[in-house]
Amino acid sequence: MDVEELKRLAGEKAAERVKDGMVVGLGTGSTVKYTILKLGEMVKEGLDIVAVPTSKATEKLAKEMGIKLANLDDFERIDLTIDGADEVDANLNLIKGGGGALLREKMIAYYSNYEIIVVDERKISNVLGSFPLPVEVVKFGYKRTMRTLKTMGCTPEIRRKNGDIFVTDNGNHIVDCKFAEIRNPEEIEVEINMVPGVVENGIFANLANEVIVGTKNGIEVLKSRK
Ligand code: A5P
Repeated sequence: MDVEELKRLAGEKAAERVKDGMVVGLGTGSTVKYTILKLGEMVKEGLDIVAVPTSKATEKLAKEMGIKLANLDDFERIDLTIDGADEVDANLNLIKGGGGALLREKMIAYYSNYEIIVVDERKISNVLGSFPLPVEVVKFGYKRTMRTLKTMGCTPEIRRKNGDIFVTDNGNHIVDCKFAEIRNPEEIEVEINMVPGVVENGIFANLANEVIVGTKNGIEVLKSRK
């Protein structure tokens, strides 16, 4: 099975957890895309849900699939969110933001009763840090902010897309911070967010309840012990 097939396996499996009447958070990326496509089919067959998208790209796809959409402002809680991740450690802490949607993804995860992450097996590691940590920063003084991030033990790089500095759905930039390893994700998450100019970072500590992994031997489900 190639990677695309593993992503599809995980993404579609998660859609089975969505039930009538739910408010569903829809993540961003090439894995959760398969969840959204599947949900689109289920909606056509009568599934009644309202979805809150984590990015403009997901909003567009969900709309095309005929899924009813709403804003985070409209609800106190979201029943279930399904999202992707760039890296998952042994305690189900995550690095997210490879697609630049980490701020809305974290807000929606924070207000969700249950967070399911869908990944292929390449994303699983013992300790976080293989994937450079995305940090969303305001444009003002971003080079100065980068120098502060460097003092925290990483190599920061401003994200570019087609040669231009990348701009998020929220009008900010992303700094990708390569750490050798992140052994204390809970502390690093808070420490980085204390830097003025940082809006949010891509460590999601203790936010995932379950990770559905597409592997060459089929689906594997990892559940949080917390
Ligand atoms: C978006 O900003 C990210 O957090 C994605 O959820 C993450 O990058 C996973 O995307 P893929 O499923 O495309 O790897």
